[in-house]
Amino acid sequence: MTLLQPSSIGSPVARRDGHLKVTGTAPYAFEQPAEAAVYLHPVQATIARGRVTAMDITAAQELSGVVDVLTVFDAPALSDTSDGELTILQDTEVHYRGQLIGGVVAETAEIAREAAAFVTVRYDEGRHDVELTADHPGLYTPESVNPSYPPDTADGDVDAALASAEFRVDATYTTPIEHNNPMEPHACIARWETGDDGPRVTLYDSTQGTHAARSTLAPVFGLEPEQLRVIAPHVGGGFGSKGAPHSHNVLALMAAQRADGRPVKLALTRQQMFSLVGYRTQTIQRLRLGADADGRLSAIAHDVVEQTSAVKEYAEQTAVTTRKMYAAPNRQTSHRLAALDVPVPYWMRAPGECPGTYAAEVAMDELAVACGLDPIELRVRNEPDVDPESGKPWSSRRLIDCLRLGAQRFGWADRDPRPGKHVVGQWLTGTGVSSATYPGMAMPGNSARITYSAEGVYTVAIGAADIGTGTWTTLSQIAADALGCELAAIDLQIGDSALPPASVAGGSSGITSWGSAIVAAARRFRTDHGDPPATGASTVAQAPENPDAEKFTVQSFGAHFVEAHVNRDTGEIRVPRMLGVFSVGRAINARTLRSQLIGGMTMGLSMALHEESVRDPRFGHVVTQDFAEYHISAHADVVDVDAIWLDDVEEHFNPMGSRGAGEIGIVGAAAAVVNAVYHATGVRVRDLPVTLDKVLPGLP
Ligand code: MOS
Repeated sequence: MTLLQPSSIGSPVARRDGHLKVTGTAPYAFEQPAEAAVYLHPVQATIARGRVTAMDITAAQELSGVVDVLTVFDAPALSDTSDGELTILQDTEVHYRGQLIGGVVAETAEIAREAAAFVTVRYDEGRHDVELTADHPGLYTPESVNPSYPPDTADGDVDAALASAEFRVDATYTTPIEHNNPMEPHACIARWETGDDGPRVTLYDSTQGTHAARSTLAPVFGLEPEQLRVIAPHVGGGFGSKGAPHSHNVLALMAAQRADGRPVKLALTRQQMFSLVGYRTQTIQRLRLGADADGRLSAIAHDVVEQTSAVKEYAEQTAVTTRKMYAAPNRQTSHRLAALDVPVPYWMRAPGECPGTYAAEVAMDELAVACGLDPIELRVRNEPDVDPESGKPWSSRRLIDCLRLGAQRFGWADRDPRPGKHVVGQWLTGTGVSSATYPGMAMPGNSARITYSAEGVYTVAIGAADIGTGTWTTLSQIAADALGCELAAIDLQIGDSALPPASVAGGSSGITSWGSAIVAAARRFRTDHGDPPATGASTVAQAPENPDAEKFTVQSFGAHFVEAHVNRDTGEIRVPRMLGVFSVGRAINARTLRSQLIGGMTMGLSMALHEESVRDPRFGHVVTQDFAEYHISAHADVVDVDAIWLDDVEEHFNPMGSRGAGEIGIVGAAAAVVNAVYHATGVRVRDLPVTLDKVLPGLP
């Protein structure tokens, strides 16, 4: 791997799209130009399982300004119905509450919404099953877990090792359903025009990947990929929920098909998002750890029960981190799913790694208490020389450096390990730690085009997405260093499926996947066209294979440190301080990197203390479907959150020397909060979120 000489890379360049954003002129999906647009409002099922027997749309049609009403009885037929989530309005079956069963198109959004409320639906209601339990009779083993890991692994003899262990932990941890709530709700504008050569369809979409959206949606409508163009220059957060199209996109395209070329605008309400755009699956995780007298792990078992939906399988890879994190001769992981009558779960920031690491790192804290060892020392003693799962060397594993530097910066040395003993006024105070890791992921299929479009201007084109992460800026920096020019000379074009193909902004893989293509194109451009090139010179190149991909296990690492205060009278929990220390390879942009890391940590704080979607088993819907009920950490909850990183260069992964940093910030953060609450109070909460009712009864 020949690494770039960093020049622009590494500096804290301000966001190149910052001015557009703060002046409100960056066009998000719903704000794109759309002449003579009409507005779509969904009609959703109000039962969790059964059949629609009748839909009376007369009152809706009579409302002035209503243009069209779609129902399960008359919607356009889809060409490909293999995806159970995207296949809507093709039959009368209801698979989950909130499922799309119709839509109203009108001259204004308000008329569409009012008319949608006038649609009356009759159902033949079936019995539904929406409750996950550890002994659910329908539990099964999926073929693989997200995206393609084996569901189960086993090495050695866990039971025998546990039986003879000096110290043991055997505990069950649960995480609730959580919902992605990006600031920008899911929104799109669909325009379906018919030319001589067939349909020409444009979708402005709030998506993490224009090419991914195109390749998923085109076949659903029997379109060739070139007939569908997906455009997304600016996206107001996604966190995984915009990593693939959802059924609202299909509804918008269906409506557009019948709108005579008029653009159809659809912006989901916050409440609609709680049934239509994915969510983090609920988990029930049993952790068993066994250690010898010195705290060396002899056995690790991580067995997960989680939910998927009856209409489509999504199997989260909750236990996979445990396969790599610590050394132990006897190891076992498993995933079991129950397919419930609920919406399809999907990616939410660090799917798998985040909830799995929460449980595993709380269990490690419990083991430290059992062994009478400092929790950092316990982790140091269980550091594996090589990847325990594959036996491959690490490209770089600096977890201990993260733990040690964090301990020093945070002030860990004087920590009294006894829980519930440190009182400041009314507040019991404590500190907690957790490890973190996240795989280095690189996606195939990326290309970039570089054109010397005018004197001193390099136009760099790739269909990448900026979901708020800073792509506009970081890819420009990479291009500048790869071409050996000033940042100001780079004219970046992203966010459009008409540009060279780019993989989805997911799995913390964006910079690696897109940046590798840009560097390859820049190197070939210089070989082909020299410096200075002729105006109009252009080169397209694909990201090459990484020759080191099979030789090393590439993971980012981190350590979280948290201070928690718990009110001894009320149980109120405050987190005045969080510090994360990360090893993520080279920082492309110190400013956007810090923003990613502290953003992830803040989401971890939110997960620890607040976030919980409550599904009412009687009706099968999430009752906490707005921000009054679904609590997230707000400004007053977030006090001193800081992230730093090691001076690092990853030599085996991409030419930038980076490793991916979008998701590791949330991994382990909730565990560190739970461990700090334990240290403050002596109360071990294993069921997220840690609310005061769970802490209060046990306070000293
Ligand atoms: Mo991220 S949850 O992989 O979009």
